[in-house]
Amino acid sequence: TEDEVVNIVFITKEGEKIPIKGKVGDNLLYLAHRYEIPMEGACEASLACTTCHVYVNSDHGNILPSAEETEEDLLDMAPLLKENSRLGCQIVLTKALEGLEVELPKATRNFYVDGHTPKPH
Ligand code: FES
Repeated sequence: TEDEVVNIVFITKEGEKIPIKGKVGDNLLYLAHRYEIPMEGACEASLACTTCHVYVNSDHGNILPSAEETEEDLLDMAPLLKENSRLGCQIVLTKALEGLEVELPKATRNFYVDGHTPKPH
């Protein structure tokens, strides 16, 4: 139904803004992939990589539940970390996130090269 739609905007590495209509309950990573947004997700949302690193605009960053310890620990290893960094695969859309802007960092860490391995599913 109409009231489940959550409008969000992805901002690519190149600064291109791509508006997307998500739905309440959508995982940001899978939503991005559905629309062919180049957001990486090497471990498929199992909190074992940092390739889904995104920057969340501040208004909405404050609405998101704060990062769990595992997310914080992983983010510490992400290149180009900022105050508003989050792991995109841990973001689930709610109505309160209407208008969310998610920016992709200029680089992500290739966790295979760096010796991290994904958790088994
Ligand atoms: Fe690996 Fe998000 S996809 S932590």
